[in-house]
Amino acid sequence: MPLNQENILIVDDDIKILELLTRRLKEFNYHVFKAISVREALFILKDTPMDLLITDIQMPEVDGIQLLKYANERYPKMPKLVVTGYPSVDGALEVLKSGAMDYLTKPFTKAELKIAVEKALEQGRKHQASIVSVPSRAKNQQFNEMVGDSTTFNQVLSIIDRVKDNRATVLIQGESGTGKELVARSIHYSGKYGKGPFIAVNCGAIPDNLQEAELFGYTKGAFTGADQDRNGFFQAASGGTLFLDEIGTACLDVQTKLLRALQEKEITKVGSRTLEKVDLRIVAATNMDLLEEIKKKNFREDLYYRLTVVEIKVPPLRKRKSDIPLLVDRFLQKYGMEYRDRLLRIDSEALKILERYPWPGNIRELENVVQRAVIMADGSIGIKDLPDFLKYEIDFPEEEFIPLKDMEKKYIKRVLLYTNGNKSKAAEILQISRKTLRDKLD
Ligand SMILES: Nc1ncnc2c1ncn2[C@@H]1O[C@H](COP(=O)(O)OP(=O)(O)OP(=O)(O)O)[C@@H](O)[C@H]1O
Ligand SMILES: [Mg+2]
Repeated sequence: MPLNQENILIVDDDIKILELLTRRLKEFNYHVFKAISVREALFILKDTPMDLLITDIQMPEVDGIQLLKYANERYPKMPKLVVTGYPSVDGALEVLKSGAMDYLTKPFTKAELKIAVEKALEQGRKHQASIVSVPSRAKNQQFNEMVGDSTTFNQVLSIIDRVKDNRATVLIQGESGTGKELVARSIHYSGKYGKGPFIAVNCGAIPDNLQEAELFGYTKGAFTGADQDRNGFFQAASGGTLFLDEIGTACLDVQTKLLRALQEKEITKVGSRTLEKVDLRIVAATNMDLLEEIKKKNFREDLYYRLTVVEIKVPPLRKRKSDIPLLVDRFLQKYGMEYRDRLLRIDSEALKILERYPWPGNIRELENVVQRAVIMADGSIGIKDLPDFLKYEIDFPEEEFIPLKDMEKKYIKRVLLYTNGNKSKAAEILQISRKTLRDKLD
């Protein structure tokens, strides 16, 4: 059974046909959505990208032709298949004019249905391939690149799994280098909206006075230099995900507009009064303590609550040290193949040092250290290939504080261990005289 099921939306006011089509298409392993009216179909289309639309023509209220016209405008890439009981010449003409690729007359056999659906999907795939989906496919693999097996990391994965197929706004919090952006990409590319665009915007990198125009777009003449209408990131991310990185640095004006966009699902370009509907998911990330920023009046409380429909706290690496060997393995693979054309190993002492270090720069810092070691190493990676600051790292439990005197003792022991008991060398590293060292040892 293929894992990547395609989404098919069936629209028919006749429940029996709807059920029959659903049953058949499920047999063929497609993922089926049903709508008994055009209204309902529009509602579903708004939230779920479809690989194929199958619709009846004759329906009360709004008919299938109208739906096809709308769908051709909004979703030109989505293939459409018409199922009709009245194959009149006029009807067929209208259907062709409205852009439907094929049609099937009732009654039809199972085989006829299968062929028509496969053909339509194939057309759709060709169309997609010639347009944009190539870069997104490549990035898609990043989800599989997320490694970790600690309990805290698995909790993150399970939230990703729960939110990936809906459009709830997500706020990702975590220290620098913990993998917030990777989490955001995973939510997007692993979920139902993964075929839409993923647009990442680093709010901290845009000067305050340009943030609004960059995000929401502007109209010609809105300000000096605005010589034409321009769409912003919101429009660019339509149908997909807008990733607002470092949201804590968004200026207050923009925060107000963001709140509106989240509440009303509408935006206005700078210089315009026209409301434009936007249809996307917002994922925001921050390494700041937003509650603290709220207290300082730097961040709007109401926006905070809008953003945290779902909250993901990415734990710092020192709180999931059991992931370190897996991560090291992954980076050895990645950089071994990249720089050395083979897989390098790491010896157990070197790995122990990596496991012990508290990694204030989190996964990014670990990745850099492994990358550097791969470049330096002659054979397998040993302590000598690690940067100096790691070699002198002292092992003491997280957030357990000890008197300075004891700390000094521990540290001196550690340095002596490193120098194999050579006191002159140890004194040199500690930048104290040999006499002082001797005194301390006594
Ligand atoms: N679970 C993971 N498995 C493998 N690699 C990871 C994982 N998490 C993060 N990384 C890698 O670590 C690096 C930092 O991740 P990312 O850029 O997502 O962090 P960040 O939290 O956005 O950092 P910053 O706050 O500095 O922007 C990236 O190279 C990413 O590929
Ligand atoms: Mg980041």
